[in-house]
Amino acid sequence: MGLFFKKKRVESHLPSFTEKDVKLSISKGTDLDRQIQMINLTKQDLLLLKSLKPEIEKQIVTIIDSFYELIAKKGNLVSIIEKHSSIERLKKTLTLHIQELFDGIIDDSFLQKRLTIAHVHVQIGLEPKWYLAAFQDLLSSFIATISNLQMSHTEQAKLINAVTKILSLEQQIVLE
Ligand code: HEM
Repeated sequence: MGLFFKKKRVESHLPSFTEKDVKLSISKGTDLDRQIQMINLTKQDLLLLKSLKPEIEKQIVTIIDSFYELIAKKGNLVSIIEKHSSIERLKKTLTLHIQELFDGIIDDSFLQKRLTIAHVHVQIGLEPKWYLAAFQDLLSSFIATISNLQMSHTEQAKLINAVTKILSLEQQIVLE
């Protein structure tokens, strides 16, 4: 009995939502709809992402700093950034962008935003290999955040799976 209560308490510290709190609304028969089916991204995944959002928010400064520390090591990427924007500006943009990934919403606006991001990165001449390489740092940070949560490995694996699905979808859209 004691164990039962202990387990319940540690697992309940992520907020829980119901299906009406998330949105998966993509026109049927489109490529995006098929991509979502192919990676089996479900409302259940969106619920998991949304429940993770407060934990990501707690770590967001560390996540963003780590991302730009990595970029700062690559001279050509710093040059691109300084030519078109600034690290300070992009830190704010990426902070918002990452938080939105955990809103549990995939709709036309989600798609449009990623198409704009793709366009912007093509315009500045960012090669896909650097975009993808930078993504790994975000994934590692998300996994580190999840690994530090007090919950069963099964629950952690579900969260990590949901995170990899949304990042995969994002990459599929931006790199198309
Ligand atoms: C712009 C995300 C990688 C350089 C943006 C924007 C987002 C974003 C959301 C704003 C787009 C808009 O204006 O609507 C990401 C993500 C990345 C990534 C998620 C990978 C995980 C990179 C890398 C560079 C870079 C590696 C290095 C050069 C820029 C620049 C802009 C920009 C310079 C601003 C362009 C402008 O305002 O004219 N990015 N980015 N991004 N990104 Fe990235």
